[in-house]
Amino acid sequence: MFDQRNFQTASGHRGLDLVEPLIFELDNPGRCGVDLPIPPDVPNRIGGLEREAPIGLPGLSEPQVVRHFVRLSRNNFAIDAGLYPLGSCTMKHNPRLNEKIARLPGFADLHPLQPVETVQGALQLIDTLSDWLLKLTGMSAIAMSPAAGAHGELCGLMCVRAALEARSDAREVVLVPESAHGTNPATAAICGYRVEEIPTDQRGRVDFLGLKEKLGPNVAAIMLTNPNTCGLFENDILEIAQAVHDAGAFFYCDGANFNAIMGKVRPGDLGIDCMHLNLHKTFSTPHGGGGPGSGPVVLAEALAPFAPLPRIESGPNGNTLIEQDKVASFGRLKGFHGQMGMFVRALSFILSHGADGLRLAAEDAVLNANYILARLGDLFSVPYSGPCMHEVLFDDQFLKDTGVSTLDFAKAMIDEGFHPMTMYFPLVVSGAMLIEPTESESKDSLDQFISSMRHLAERAMANDRGFFEHAPYLVPYRRLDETQAARKPVLRWRPERQDAAESAD
Ligand SMILES: Cc1ncc(COP(=O)(O)O)c(C=O)c1O
Repeated sequence: MFDQRNFQTASGHRGLDLVEPLIFELDNPGRCGVDLPIPPDVPNRIGGLEREAPIGLPGLSEPQVVRHFVRLSRNNFAIDAGLYPLGSCTMKHNPRLNEKIARLPGFADLHPLQPVETVQGALQLIDTLSDWLLKLTGMSAIAMSPAAGAHGELCGLMCVRAALEARSDAREVVLVPESAHGTNPATAAICGYRVEEIPTDQRGRVDFLGLKEKLGPNVAAIMLTNPNTCGLFENDILEIAQAVHDAGAFFYCDGANFNAIMGKVRPGDLGIDCMHLNLHKTFSTPHGGGGPGSGPVVLAEALAPFAPLPRIESGPNGNTLIEQDKVASFGRLKGFHGQMGMFVRALSFILSHGADGLRLAAEDAVLNANYILARLGDLFSVPYSGPCMHEVLFDDQFLKDTGVSTLDFAKAMIDEGFHPMTMYFPLVVSGAMLIEPTESESKDSLDQFISSMRHLAERAMANDRGFFEHAPYLVPYRRLDETQAARKPVLRWRPERQDAAESAD
């Protein structure tokens, strides 16, 4: 029978899978894609700072450049290419309508230094989006400028610190559950707090008694994710809020998973004091490839006065940007006012769904995850029993004694045409596999995914370790040496001569 895995071609290409060298390796010195005129002979005004050697750009024709980047783009897995089940990082389908609206010149060509009178529409859009986010969360105030979830966390904790300083109550500790996303403790530390961990209980939720033991007059805040990173709703949240407030601390909620409860629960009703929203998750704006993200922070009344600047005020004479506040704001968080393109996409997503559509999106996200749980639960091992929220968590117990690891399993998924799920996170579970389908996957695509996952699990349990050890097979680049990659990372291309000289040093 034809063996596709071992089929070799003379070119190294495999049909539509084209092997592409680095752009520097394609270099043909002197070749150029453009015909620039010789610059006019003008007096030299750079005071002897001329470049001494050529800049080192690779020589390529225009078609070579175009092909290079098109070929590279085809090596990328994308949400527009297939199911992308990364848990916690939530690659959501970005409806094309959002893109169309974001590209309207009135939004796309804005300059952040334009006079306020000329950007009234943009300010109105930010204000309308703010209003939706406040209504959905049931909170009092919002800071739109944070550029990502982690930046939103920083914004929230800076509000907490400002509020504590205002009441002359310096506190030193922030409590973070051990299942938290790494940005939570990192943010607390960067804000100058000492991080103390709260244990997870046997249900995958915060250990309430463990939390109560840690609460005290030195605790500034708790940072809790709900639904949490095990894909579970923290059902003790009202009691947690009460206990935190009784200790004089603030309740920060990591709202990265708000897409599971949007339109169903208002965090403001749960006793939360501040929470960031990841527009690039819940509200579908593009994510990955480095952003940009957008992480607005909603604030309860107690923290509202400390929100960063600028903020928008709407009045009969239009929208005004409040850039200075002599009262309590902790100041500016970043240059300018936030990620305009993300605001436009998020509002387009919200308005095109409507309130009922947003609620349905949350319900479908939860339904899809539970469908996967129901269809895989007999083969895969589940660390915490019961239904899940928008993402489903498996551990590696089902791979015990097979010699196959979570990593091997994930590599084999690549051959099946799926992006691997989130691996080894959350840390509280051994060999975690966190799968988030999102609401936009159809039953057909979920069934296809499930059938591949079942096939791989059965193969692993049949002790076909050799197959997994060498996966993936059907990719331009096979499995890399992870140890070498960690110990001797090669992060940028250098000419061979320079490499050789450096290793001789
Ligand atoms: C639970 C949780 N919190 C915080 C973050 C940080 O968000 P961002 O990547 O936008 O900084 C993430 C990101 O994946 C997350 O999943």
